[in-house]
Amino acid sequence: MCGIIGYIGDNDVAPILLDGLERLEYRGYDSAGISTINRNGDIFTTKAKGKIEQLRKKVKSEYKDISTIGIGHTRWATHGKPSDRNSHPHMSMDGRFSVVHNGIIENFSELKADLQNEGVIFASETDTEVVAQLLAKLYDGDMRSTIMKTLKKLKGAYSLGILCKDFPNEIWAVRNASPLIIGLCENQNFLASDITAVVKYTKSIYQLDDGEFARLTRDNVEIFAPTGEKISKNIVKIDWDVSAAEKGGYQHFMLKEIMEEPEAIAKTISPRINDDNSINLDGINLTAEQIKNLKKICVVACGSAWHVGMVGKYVIEELTRIPVEVDLASEFRYRNPIIDENCLCIAISQSGETADTLAALREAKSRGARILSIVNVVGSTIANESDDVLYTWAGPEIAVATTKAYSTQLTLVYLLALYMAQALDKIDDKEYNEIINAIRSLPEQVASILEQKDEIKELAKRYAYLEHAYFIGRNLDYAVSLEASLKLKEISYIHSEAYAAGELKHGTISLIEEGTVVCALCCCDRLFEKTVSNIKEVAARGAETIAVISESSPNVQLECDHKIYVPSTHELIMPSLEVIPLQLMGYYIALARKCNIDKPRNLAKSVTVE
Ligand code: AGP
Repeated sequence: MCGIIGYIGDNDVAPILLDGLERLEYRGYDSAGISTINRNGDIFTTKAKGKIEQLRKKVKSEYKDISTIGIGHTRWATHGKPSDRNSHPHMSMDGRFSVVHNGIIENFSELKADLQNEGVIFASETDTEVVAQLLAKLYDGDMRSTIMKTLKKLKGAYSLGILCKDFPNEIWAVRNASPLIIGLCENQNFLASDITAVVKYTKSIYQLDDGEFARLTRDNVEIFAPTGEKISKNIVKIDWDVSAAEKGGYQHFMLKEIMEEPEAIAKTISPRINDDNSINLDGINLTAEQIKNLKKICVVACGSAWHVGMVGKYVIEELTRIPVEVDLASEFRYRNPIIDENCLCIAISQSGETADTLAALREAKSRGARILSIVNVVGSTIANESDDVLYTWAGPEIAVATTKAYSTQLTLVYLLALYMAQALDKIDDKEYNEIINAIRSLPEQVASILEQKDEIKELAKRYAYLEHAYFIGRNLDYAVSLEASLKLKEISYIHSEAYAAGELKHGTISLIEEGTVVCALCCCDRLFEKTVSNIKEVAARGAETIAVISESSPNVQLECDHKIYVPSTHELIMPSLEVIPLQLMGYYIALARKCNIDKPRNLAKSVTVE
């Protein structure tokens, strides 16, 4: 996630901005920059690809004048690769405005085209620059009205910091669906993406709400409602210590990233579903003709990304009737795969750098396949070597155990399957709209499941001393049980296996004994009774059973020790809901075992070696 810092006061602003940006590094970034207003009234901007250290060197050599007002930014690339020119802040062509931004301007392409048609020359590939150029276009000498006119044009999630050279004693801040706080001090004020950047100066903040904007001067902060009327806010006192604040107040990045899933899903799907429910897969050049010529789809991935591929197999085959093979990337390249130009290879990877997946991608490409990758890191190697790229806009994922990247990858698999099914004329409007609306509802439904986290935490405490666990399910439930099992074992070190529920009786059921814990995923309603009978089989042998059930499950007698309910949705979209309590379960069991949750032993966030 990008990071924003702003300062106005009596001190030299550059060191304060650089220090604040360093405190936001944990959010993940690939470039950074600052803008200040100098005593001669001009806006000075310095920015650099890479780490803050690179920026610090540039500031040292280029920043000659002292300034006491400025904004800074760490960029997590979404639109436009990491580079100096794509780094923030972004200036308007006339040099009057400088802007930093966190979030996504969904309609930036049409806004940019309109501005270019009016002669505006853009310096970057980013969505953010559109804001700076719009402010300049709509500028009427009054910042409040200029900002209001500009915001009316924008669609998407954004928090903004704005400098205008005509007003060298004020910074403007805007918040819309992307966090932004204002730090309050004597004779100086701050704006920031989160408290981490300012907590060393103040623990008194204003939290802006969606649509609100603010004017910061040295000794005053005015806050405005979306309508432009001035409003008052209560000061919030922060009781975090600095180390905790780095995780936004959460004890671990993993929990923070689980709690970010509604926002991450919303950011990933909303720019891709138009108001008329049509799908807009930016970055995809795959034509309907090419889709019609596909004879096979092969998915290559590792770990949790491979589990997404397993969900994808069921969903894509159900909707398109194109055969889908899902390979562990490390196996794919050594099995002499049957691949040719009529095959689409989908490479799924959070990091975009996993060596096995990259090697499998290259193997498929060498045999003529078209490569489509689903990646979370813009400009990563896998993205760069693909013909088509679908980015999950989950923001940086710090915890080794993936959660929000897994969940956003699922949503792109659903959208891709729908997109291809429509191209093949394999889906009627009724089912298409049912599925699209089910996808639209995911952020809200996931948020409602997260409200259960305390109950899950209580249940998880029972399993702090578990030695073995089994996750079973059928069809999509089985695909999700793979992820549930990995989540548990990789952070709690408890031995865990996922099993197709119907397969258990063919051997593994011999391991079930008194007290063995078996978690049955029962969210595929049409197979509910089958899985219920599997629960009975293991319970009869002494297992302690947990069932994850959708609220629409058939009214069938289900004897089990614990039930976890999730909202119901279209069958093909259920994986996105049933995985959430199981991510939480893995987290809280590991917490009870006092494991090193964010950095589990032996694991790396990105496995860039074979
Ligand atoms: C999942 O929690 C693990 N971190 C691991 O299995 C991971 O999914 C796998 O290494 C693939 O990583 P990638 O998505 O970055 O390619």
